[in-house]
Amino acid sequence: MKRSTKPIIDKAGTGKPVPLYGPEEFAAMHRAGRLAAATLDHVTPHVRPGVTTGELDRIVDAFMREHGGVPATLGYRGYPKSCCISVNHVVNHGIPSDDKTLREGDIVNIDVTVILDGWYGDTSRMFLVGERVPVKARKLVEVTFEAMWAGIRAVRPGATLGDVGHAIQTVAERNRFSVVRDFVGHGLGRVFHDAPEVRHYGRPGEGLLLVPGMLFTIEPMINAGRPEVKILGDGWTTVTRDRSLSAQFEHTVGVTEDGVEVFTLSPKGWHKPPYD
Ligand code: MF3
Ligand code: CO
Ligand code: CO
Repeated sequence: MKRSTKPIIDKAGTGKPVPLYGPEEFAAMHRAGRLAAATLDHVTPHVRPGVTTGELDRIVDAFMREHGGVPATLGYRGYPKSCCISVNHVVNHGIPSDDKTLREGDIVNIDVTVILDGWYGDTSRMFLVGERVPVKARKLVEVTFEAMWAGIRAVRPGATLGDVGHAIQTVAERNRFSVVRDFVGHGLGRVFHDAPEVRHYGRPGEGLLLVPGMLFTIEPMINAGRPEVKILGDGWTTVTRDRSLSAQFEHTVGVTEDGVEVFTLSPKGWHKPPYD
């Protein structure tokens, strides 16, 4: 079947055209995505009580560069570090610091974005610090992982982004957790943030119709309490307003002829914690 050349507009989201990509571009995304995922694998054994998030950031930066990549976040809109590290009630965009030490019982998201040969790979995972993470926090991490995968499994030609958001929201709310509305997944390719906007909530059948060749992230942020967030005075760090715990996982995906390709799967098979 001949593919339509009429631009597809992200009406429900950015209002911008949604770029479509072919097999060679998918292959380049696969390489970038694999480096992003390998970066998370590499930092995993270092995520322990007593390490600072500043030290983890240096480990991430060095690994990306050793493998021919560049950290996309460094200097992006003035962001000062090579990844984002968000601990406990921090929702996203936590800035790594030598003054922030991880403690037994913390839950932590590390979000890495690498540019490899001009293509972006964007992925994040949760980590449990030490052996004594409270049951409720573990449950939040588990449910957030399941919610992300419910969204990924909804991706196929003919489905809509409303189907994807609905799948994620259903898993979160069934467990009496809430979906953050203020941040969304995004198209990406040779740019970091592009159309479409990918909401992690929604109604079946609504929103953008998915077609082969689309590239975007799915990156739900799920709160143990209420969904509202606020951004701190540094202009980046986002926290839950009620100081409840928050979790997030992220994959970069592409819509294929018969479903979905996930570019950021862990080469070591470290998909969800515990990773040992
Ligand atoms: N990696 C984040 C995302 O998933 C974006 C971080 S932008 C930064 O979209 F500037 F905060 F690093
Ligand atoms: Co992203
Ligand atoms: Co990210």
